[in-house]
Amino acid sequence: MPGIVVVGMQFGDESKGAVVDYLSRDADLVVRYNGGANAGHTVATGDLRLKFRLMPSGALWGKRLVIGNGVVVDPKVLLDEIKALREVGVEPNLLLSRKAHVVMPYHKVIDAGKMAGSLGTTKRGIGPTYADKARRTDAIRVDDLVGPRFRERLESVLRFKLDELVAYGIVRREEDLPKYLEEVYGEYSEYGRELRPYAGEAYLEVNRALDEGKVVLFEGAQGTLLDLDHGTYPYVTSSNPVAGGACVGVGVGPTRIDRVIGVAKAYTTRVGAGPFPTEIHDELGDRIRERGGEYGTVTGRPRRCGWLDLPMLRYSIMINGITEIALRKLDVLGGTRPLKVAVAYEIDGEEREVMTPFVSDLERVRPVYEELDGWEELSPGEWGRVARRGYDALPRGARDYVEFIEERLGVPVTMVGVGPRREDTIERV
Ligand code: GDP
Ligand code: IMO
Ligand code: MG
Repeated sequence: MPGIVVVGMQFGDESKGAVVDYLSRDADLVVRYNGGANAGHTVATGDLRLKFRLMPSGALWGKRLVIGNGVVVDPKVLLDEIKALREVGVEPNLLLSRKAHVVMPYHKVIDAGKMAGSLGTTKRGIGPTYADKARRTDAIRVDDLVGPRFRERLESVLRFKLDELVAYGIVRREEDLPKYLEEVYGEYSEYGRELRPYAGEAYLEVNRALDEGKVVLFEGAQGTLLDLDHGTYPYVTSSNPVAGGACVGVGVGPTRIDRVIGVAKAYTTRVGAGPFPTEIHDELGDRIRERGGEYGTVTGRPRRCGWLDLPMLRYSIMINGITEIALRKLDVLGGTRPLKVAVAYEIDGEEREVMTPFVSDLERVRPVYEELDGWEELSPGEWGRVARRGYDALPRGARDYVEFIEERLGVPVTMVGVGPRREDTIERV
């Protein structure tokens, strides 16, 4: 019963999409368990490059794709992804949980207001949708969207939200509500009709697949330090990207998870506001950003760049129960010499090996660095050749880097990435 979780170990954008795509070859089901269209997961092979926001990243393999209840679904984004896959000749074999919640247009307006300003959100309506889910009174689930009583449900939700709709200027006054209802209903009832064939009981199918010994890959969005409970609160997202989120976000017991693969970039990036102890503030940070193409997949914002942070990775290993690490984007660091790696944090005169996620502590933290020689810059073609020849073909300095990380963390690095494509992944056996 191989249940495998793929989880981000940093602030998101670790290259989970590339890792999930690579592993999907041997999976039967690929299941997204959290987040929404705030995610952007890039999958590349040959000349093809796709960015998935809701669709599980195993889509190109024609596998059974499941969107779990922990996801908040923007129906238009999902329908666009279905179309984009059809354009490349893939008919998505999709199952959408009836328990998942729906991102409505007002969620995006609310998110673009105060929340985007102070937290630097993606403005995709994520926080307001999860807030409604927790509040229960004014939420809309996929089950409502595709069901026969969507109109009644929407009407009662809008009445309940009237004050908020007025406060955000979405409707001017109560008398405008019927018009707004017609508008939203007109658009969303059509989405409901189009998504109806995909809606179903995801927990049943996933548990049955595990019972039958099938391989189920659980794909997390965002990363551990963006987790609502375990991240750098309040600079986090509103869901649980951590491995345990796979159980809650799909409806499988913890005993069904056999492996937890943590994905880490060979350096650290963060998009949006919040603490970042190893951030590089000079032109070296710009160099990494340019070479790594570190611009947000969803919003295009430049990502903040910094050194690899081992206390952060130790924290991630602990919170997620990570059994192996996929280390990506080693190629990007070629020619950056020497390389610094944070091996501990100093806080109030004491050294800590494991990160503290509290913003108030992180303000006072000083990373303790060690330096490694690094390795030379290679062209993409040269990295492609390295990938074909395997781990031993990596420059000596790159192998030293991988082995240093592995030794300091006590967890094996089983996969390394030296380019964006599926073909640029090296498995260590
Ligand atoms: P995700 O959100 O974790 O799936 O990551 P993103 O797709 O947002 O960002 C990762 C970016 O790095 C994408 O543009 C990938 O195509 C790219 N990428 C993935 N692995 C590698 C790698 O090993 N080397 C390089 N140079 N790029 C990579
Ligand atoms: P993937 O799955 C990187 C960040 C936003 C913001 C904070 C809250 O591609 O790794 P939200 O819109 O979720 O309320 O924004 O979280 N953020 C991400 N950063 N990768 C992501 O997803 C992210 N999803 C959200 O930039 O700082
Ligand atoms: Mg991303």
